[in-house]
Amino acid sequence: MVLGSRIAGTGSYAPAKVLTNAELERLVDTSDAWISERTGIKERRIAAPEECTSDLALRASRAALEAASLDARELDMIVMGTITPDRQLPACAAYLQQKLGVSGIPAFDISAACAGFVYAMSIGDQFIRTGAARNVLVVGAELLSRVTNWMDRNTCVLFGDGAGAVVLTPATEGSGRVLSSKLHTDATLTESLCIPAGGSREPLTHAGLDERRNTVQMVGNDIFRIAVKNLSSASRSALDAAGLTPEDVDWLVPHQANLRIIAQVSTRLGIPLERFVVNIDRYGNTSSASIPIALDEAVRDGRVKSGQTVLMCALGAGISWASALVRL
Ligand code: ACO
Repeated sequence: MVLGSRIAGTGSYAPAKVLTNAELERLVDTSDAWISERTGIKERRIAAPEECTSDLALRASRAALEAASLDARELDMIVMGTITPDRQLPACAAYLQQKLGVSGIPAFDISAACAGFVYAMSIGDQFIRTGAARNVLVVGAELLSRVTNWMDRNTCVLFGDGAGAVVLTPATEGSGRVLSSKLHTDATLTESLCIPAGGSREPLTHAGLDERRNTVQMVGNDIFRIAVKNLSSASRSALDAAGLTPEDVDWLVPHQANLRIIAQVSTRLGIPLERFVVNIDRYGNTSSASIPIALDEAVRDGRVKSGQTVLMCALGAGISWASALVRL
């Protein structure tokens, strides 16, 4: 009998180039003090010109496969959360599959913005639960620097590039497992966070390009309020579904969008900030990559240990949000 899925290995990769707040001060009318106080971000990573999203995903995936002691040829499926695929067509997961040297297995992208990784992990978990797949590679990878308007101080100080991955395999008696996951979308705030041009609603024109309508535009305040509320409620529903309470959570790995959002979620849930994995200061908001990067770092530095209970929650454009509760 299939008992569900477990995380058998984690991996992550962040490009070498560091862009500091001080460097951004020379690009737009901002300051290290404003960025640090309003967001918690000190620096972010920026991909090299020759790197694309599947390159970042490949590095993270190889690390996760190695940690899981699995060969890429043993995978049954690849699910990738991303809003910055290599090309609009085909799926970025197809390029990743090619780079991993495998073929024939399903490989597809999930577009749920910052919630993309949790969405992808929930899908992988369902496939393993039903017995339709055994080994699933789940990836969150983004190259947001390519869809950032570097003249807009409202957004350009927030984002960074990176990738994270986990390998899901069938849970066994006494092993860890994905305990629950909850996925949500509410379309009332679609225009508050979007890339306006480049799709069928608004094909990219020369004028649109001049106005940088092919980059992320966000009304940050709208998203902030809903983020605190929805991340807290989604976290509670994942706990309720597993019959657990906030006291049972060893670590909360939240999406890293704003330290003030994370702090307010901590207060609402009654889980002290010391039990949150936070790395926003070093990476900024890497959208779907933020949770798997933070998880991988905490696993590798020994904070998150086998047998512990980890809660993940994320919210992004859509508005899409999601939570997952995992016993490692
Ligand atoms: N430097 C200096 N001043 C700035 C900067 C900056 N980089 N950016 C904005 N300001 C100014 C504004 O112009 C405004 O000035 P004004 O009062 O003269 O008009 C002032 O600071 C306050 O602006 P707010 O937007 O109200 O600032 P806020 O405190 O809300 O912080 C932020 C903005 C950081 C974007 C915050 O709202 C936030 O984190 N929102 C949530 C983001 C999020 O979770 N996104 C979802 C994931 S992203 C995705 O899906 C791709």
